[in-house]
Amino acid sequence: MNALITWLDSRTGFKDLMHEALYERVPGGARWRYVWGSTLVFTFTLQVITGFMLWSAYSPSTRTAWESVFYIQNVMAFGYLVRGIHHFAAQAMVVLMAIHLVQVVIDGAYKAPREMNFWLGLVLLQIVLGLSLTGYLLPWDQKGYYATKVTTNIMSATPVVGAEVQTMAQGGTEYGHLTLTRFFAMHAGILPAMLVGFLALHIYVFRRHGLTVHDVNHAPETNFWPDQVLKDAIACLAVLAVVMLLALFKGAELSAPADAATKFDAARPEWYFLFLFKFLHFEAVNRLGITFGAIIVPGIIMGIIAMMPLTYKFLGNLGHRLNTTFIWLLGAAIVVLTAMAIIEDNNDPKFQADVAESHRDGQRARELALGPDRIPVEGAISLMRNDPFTQGPRLFFQHCKACHRYNGHDGRGSLVTEIVKELVEGKEVETTVLTKPTAVDLNGFGKREWMRSVVVDYPAHFSWLKNSGWYKQAAAAEAAGTEVTYLDPDNSEMADWSGSRDSLMSAENADNLTALVEFLFAEADHGFQPEDPKTRGDFTDVDVSLLDKGRAVATEGAWAGDLNGTSCIDCHSTIGQDFVVAADDEGDGYPTMAKYASEAWLRDFIRNPGAARHYGEKNEMPAYRVEKLSDQDLDLLIRWMTGNHLPSEVPDYGSQLNAFEVVAPQGAADATE
Ligand code: HEC
Ligand code: HEC
Repeated sequence: MNALITWLDSRTGFKDLMHEALYERVPGGARWRYVWGSTLVFTFTLQVITGFMLWSAYSPSTRTAWESVFYIQNVMAFGYLVRGIHHFAAQAMVVLMAIHLVQVVIDGAYKAPREMNFWLGLVLLQIVLGLSLTGYLLPWDQKGYYATKVTTNIMSATPVVGAEVQTMAQGGTEYGHLTLTRFFAMHAGILPAMLVGFLALHIYVFRRHGLTVHDVNHAPETNFWPDQVLKDAIACLAVLAVVMLLALFKGAELSAPADAATKFDAARPEWYFLFLFKFLHFEAVNRLGITFGAIIVPGIIMGIIAMMPLTYKFLGNLGHRLNTTFIWLLGAAIVVLTAMAIIEDNNDPKFQADVAESHRDGQRARELALGPDRIPVEGAISLMRNDPFTQGPRLFFQHCKACHRYNGHDGRGSLVTEIVKELVEGKEVETTVLTKPTAVDLNGFGKREWMRSVVVDYPAHFSWLKNSGWYKQAAAAEAAGTEVTYLDPDNSEMADWSGSRDSLMSAENADNLTALVEFLFAEADHGFQPEDPKTRGDFTDVDVSLLDKGRAVATEGAWAGDLNGTSCIDCHSTIGQDFVVAADDEGDGYPTMAKYASEAWLRDFIRNPGAARHYGEKNEMPAYRVEKLSDQDLDLLIRWMTGNHLPSEVPDYGSQLNAFEVVAPQGAADATE
């Protein structure tokens, strides 16, 4: 062994090098305050190692970037851990960098003869920030895509050459595929190479001048080895522990694949850039323009920091005091602005809803990509675009929430509100008030509770209609003696029928009612294949043993007591039949109940609710023709309403019904009596 070492040393001289490295003098003894530089070198090494691992599975193109990161995250052995470490070590690096800078300024390590090294350090800071900025885009998910879009737009605010800078970063006038490949080249090639180069210079120059000793009399002089090395090693392990814990228990998020065609309002830069984000959104800063806020002010601040050695040179100790004051003030300003940004976001219900939706989409994208279809060649983005569970709520939000609600919300979990202006003491005051729905709440449409409530509690079930202008107008006209035809939940043949509530709810008819409801529920189903995981919907558990009895009740009036002989078919002549529309269909004055609430029924109803077979002249719902709602969108909407899609673990939005004063349908509560 010894012989080998001697041989190696005589050929390479490594012993001298080791000695040189380890026996650096540390006057005043080893101290914790000197560890920051080492932790930075350590985290950078960590980044290089994990970075190469990620690279080995990453594929930078708009159709494969998200997909390959998804693979790393969910399929590759320990991939989530490697990605998590890379993700959190990057953030650790920024934090350590900030601490290192503050430490250097406080200890006066920027003073002559170390100015050069101070400047090298500032260059390193820029490179690290550039690395995190470019890295944020690489997963090509919604979050990174939209946040980076903001960044590249800011670049265009660079004075004089703004457009050129933006075009260069984006790889053209459009933000897209070439932006990704450029950012990847920067992130994995140019910036790390620059970092290695500048880091080598930084350490070389540092060794030339040695440590800036804070207090020579602190302790007897030692060498770098072993005291300081031990402290450095402990600090590095502590950083590693924190990063590992975060990677294991928090993990790096992967939001849904980037889709340029969507609206994504939950975009925020990484948390350590939030202060700048907040600063740019101040009214006053905003008015002075993006160039001022994003380029000039940060430029001046970096300038002041770079001038610190000169400030000291010309002003002596006063200069040093100015420098430390400045760095503390800057740090405090960053902390305050970051806190403000976070608090503001937390109190913004719109933003919170957007973030929640972003998490839902991320979770759903993962479900779909792991689902039976896997990721198609068109990329994961098509999974989301063709998923009823994802698109249904958006389409409902876009087309239906003006009148309907879904469990009290707008389809996407939020209340529908409007701003009303009032004159209070001669001043115009704006208040946000809840918008009342003017049509039935469509949650649970076609399910058992729905059917039961329509039958036994028709007036309450459709009581939402009474909020609408047309209802109030018609009711008023009617009260004044004019004859009007309108949909009146309290007063119609259906209301009368449902008004025989006591008989319907009587004990002797309990089984008949249950069977009727099961029959109606089964009619709404239209043969999803329960064993097909792709279409397993909400209508799978029909109790077939009840169907014959239910059909008899609906079509023959097989009730007990005074109801006997009356049935739905007396008016709804097509109940129990298949849903077919003849070309010359003129209806019979009653809405058709043929496969009521099924996909076929819905498709026809939404396209043409005013047809005689539906609401006829009583109709108040707009017809959704192809120009308004494409076939594809209608299909997605309907499949969402009927639950005909890959099942999801994504939690429900939850009810917002308690926000309303209007009488909520009573049927559901009664049914459980
Ligand atoms: C301008 C208001 C309005 C809009 C917008 C609207 N509807 Fe309606 N809708 C109504 C009214 C009024 C009714 C009839 C009474 C009721 O069901 O509340 C109705 C009834 C329905 C029904 C039948 C409920 C039943 O069993 O009687 C369904 C299903 C429905 N709408 C779906 C939709 C969908 C899906 C959208 C969006 C694509 C939509 N509606 C948009 C007003 C509207
Ligand atoms: C006496 C005639 C009559 C009987 C019997 C009757 N209905 Fe109705 N039903 C109507 C009318 C009329 C409407 C249209 C709403 C209105 O005018 O208020 C209607 C509406 C409905 C609707 C909502 C219509 C739609 O297109 O969204 C459903 C659901 C319904 N009935 C189910 C039933 C069921 C189930 C039965 C049997 C238990 C039944 N009805 C018995 C007359 C009747």
